[in-house]
Amino acid sequence: MKDKFQREINYLRVSITDLCNFRCGYCMPQEGLVAKSRQEILTLEEIYYLVHTFVEKGINKVRLTGGEPLLRKNVLALIESLGKIEKIKDFALTSNGYLLKDYAQDLKAAGIQRVNLSLDTLNAQKFEKITHYDGFDKVWQGLEEALNVGLGVKINAVLMKGINDDEIGDLIQLTKDYPLDLRFIELMPIGQTQDFAQKHFLSCDEVLKFDGLLEVERDDPHSPAQLYRLEGAQGRVGLIRPISQHFCQACNRLRLTSDGKVKPCLHSDSSLDLMTPLRKGEDIRPLIDRATQAKPERHHLLERQTSQESMNRIGG
Ligand code: GTP
Ligand code: 5AD
Ligand code: SF4
Repeated sequence: MKDKFQREINYLRVSITDLCNFRCGYCMPQEGLVAKSRQEILTLEEIYYLVHTFVEKGINKVRLTGGEPLLRKNVLALIESLGKIEKIKDFALTSNGYLLKDYAQDLKAAGIQRVNLSLDTLNAQKFEKITHYDGFDKVWQGLEEALNVGLGVKINAVLMKGINDDEIGDLIQLTKDYPLDLRFIELMPIGQTQDFAQKHFLSCDEVLKFDGLLEVERDDPHSPAQLYRLEGAQGRVGLIRPISQHFCQACNRLRLTSDGKVKPCLHSDSSLDLMTPLRKGEDIRPLIDRATQAKPERHHLLERQTSQESMNRIGG
């Protein structure tokens, strides 16, 4: 599928729940969430049907996100059925890692190839401050298990001034010690987390002050990360810079939320409901075309325009 700006759209990010056990300040409303009723969210069968339809329209890369996707009941059954869709060439998951130790083996068996794990610090106390959850050890075990079973692993670390900017070196060191990629992400103002984002924003330029990082070619021109490598390291260091160098010209994605809306852009409130027409038995293919055509050329974060929905609903 091509959008209005001749970008090929082949990547669908599917948020299968907006619930999460963590409460990271940049993602979740701090007062927590009122869980939606079962009627208000897509069933696993509906998610399967929708993803299948997107794939028939040309999507070949699918990432399950949340909230925390592994909290969704019977998630493995969904993954197993999606894993059998041959046209999906890249099938991945973004997770907070808390349940990964128990799930890694089954995820791999069900067809997940790669896991992107959100981890902003290597210090257990700081971890609890960031996430409001005492979970570092379990996340770390999850990371090790994912590597053990042969899943591709990327760590996403949101860069936060005054919180984890003293750990840039330690995080980079992970790419020497383990076969994984580490990506620093610039903090984005979104939903109710705008004050937090303003207070703690730090440009990825800060990472480039670290000695020895050599730029290397991206394997996927549509990936948001610019890649670097330390000499002799097993993995790469990526910089995701939606603020200081946006990558909208290479955007290839649509997002599906757990309540059945397609979002053409992370940073816009415009969305298109698929759940109602799906439940009425209507053809949703023209709506997928409409969402694709509604993709804006770029975001306008610097002009302070962003989505009022928080990340846990959109899935990053
Ligand atoms: P790969 O397939 O491994 O490249 O994954 P990914 O980077 O697409 O997915 P991930 O869930 O790990 O997202 C990494 C970060 O990039 C998150 O902070 C996302 O919010 C951010 N990101 C992903 N897509 C977009 C986008 O379209 N626009 C902006 N501004 N940020 C995005
Ligand atoms: N700014 C930047 N990255 C964010 N993420 C969640 N909220 C934000 C934000 N406000 C990241 C998480 C996760 C990824 C999907 O999005 O760290 O790894
Ligand atoms: Fe695509 Fe919107 Fe993200 Fe830009 S901000 S890369 S247009 S989803």
